[in-house]
Amino acid sequence: TVLPDIQADMGNCTRCRLHEGRSKIVFGSGNPNAKVVFVGEGPGADEDAQGIPFVGRAGQLLTKIIASIGLTRDEVYIANVVKCRPPGNRNPAPGEVKTCEPFLFRQLDVIRPKVVVALGAFAIHTLLGTDRAISRLRGQVYEYRGAKLVPTFHPAFLLRSPDRKRDVWEDMKKVRALLEGR
Ligand code: URA
Repeated sequence: TVLPDIQADMGNCTRCRLHEGRSKIVFGSGNPNAKVVFVGEGPGADEDAQGIPFVGRAGQLLTKIIASIGLTRDEVYIANVVKCRPPGNRNPAPGEVKTCEPFLFRQLDVIRPKVVVALGAFAIHTLLGTDRAISRLRGQVYEYRGAKLVPTFHPAFLLRSPDRKRDVWEDMKKVRALLEGR
């Protein structure tokens, strides 16, 4: 299987209610052989319009976060837990996650990255299957589907709380160390 097969299986998906309000499915973008995959929550307005993840204001900050580990957006892979924009940017509902997450699992299983960076509480809680506070989860590395999972703050949160950029910088140093086999 390759990523385009997964995208083809998704087709013009109507498996959950989110299809009703979306304009474009945001499947994911980047390098199919990426060593690191960044996972967000779900598309916002800009992503829904363009069909590309993390292209809005938070996305511009994510591009800088990726640059901090010496990589570009084209060298990593970027995806979301759900592929269609929730109305008004609400959190995806549990049923929507259940319906959509098999596609993320398949993406990760074909990319087989060394590191998965979970961006923000929603992605962290979904991937790790826990609802423990992000403050207690970050700063540690978790085993996840054969990869090392590094939880960090969502760039949209960093736009509101720039004082936490230092923490994200620490998390990215960890990512770099893992990629270098340290
Ligand atoms: N926020 C997300 O979680 N994902 C995107 O693609 C954009 C903003």
